[in-house]
Amino acid sequence: MDRREFLKVTGAGMLTLFLSGCGTLMAPKQGKATIQVKPGQVSGGKKMKIVVITSSPHPKNESTSIYLADRFTAGAQKAGHEVFTFDAANSSTHPCRGCDQCHMDGPCVFKDDIENTLMPKMLEADLLVLTTPLYYFGMSAQLKTIVDRFYSRTGRLHGKKSILMATAYNSNDWTMSALVDHYDTLVRYMEWQDAGKILGIGCGSRSLVESSDFGNQAEQLGANL
Ligand SMILES: Cc1cc2nc3c(=O)[nH]c(=O)nc-3n(C[C@H](O)[C@H](O)[C@H](O)COP(=O)(O)O)c2cc1C
Repeated sequence: MDRREFLKVTGAGMLTLFLSGCGTLMAPKQGKATIQVKPGQVSGGKKMKIVVITSSPHPKNESTSIYLADRFTAGAQKAGHEVFTFDAANSSTHPCRGCDQCHMDGPCVFKDDIENTLMPKMLEADLLVLTTPLYYFGMSAQLKTIVDRFYSRTGRLHGKKSILMATAYNSNDWTMSALVDHYDTLVRYMEWQDAGKILGIGCGSRSLVESSDFGNQAEQLGANL
């Protein structure tokens, strides 16, 4: 099913898009970034280790969610933070198979890019940034694969700070509700501290997200950590 078909199936999606344009033009409350911090409040003025996880299968220069990730990264690096980016859609990953050989405290039986590359970076990171295109009102399968693999180090990943960034075609005020509920529950369970959300509704194409204000909000979020 391509994106046009998706919109047809979800009813008035295209009409909504035409009427509202990108989220910033008639931004419903939910489309605005929820930046919950004052400059320096998240980092306490220290240089942070940040892991940005992207999860779009689109090429980097066409992806809307990777655009937000890149803008966030530019802001964070300008502020002196160290950013490691993991491309979940183009790395070797396996879904958790629930074997419990890790006993939730590692190592994982899979010796893939999650175990060998991402997990060590996440374990030493101060801040994790989860980036996703909205897929059927939740996170992409590529990102969910990473999240399920948190299982092997659940306790060791406690206490991190986190950010959610997402893009979607639709611009209804409820577009991101299920994703945000899931993320907030994850933050609670993982004992993380939410440091902000960029919810790019009405951003179903690169030109839409680039002409929206969400990129500026993402960069500002990174710069003001
Ligand atoms: C499998 C699939 C499911 C999607 N589900 C939704 C959805 O539930 N709601 C929505 O508004 N857009 C949905 N979209 C559109 C994407 O979220 C949107 O095009 C987004 O900008 C893609 O981001 P990316 O370029 O970073 O991959 C879906 C697209 C695909 C391919």
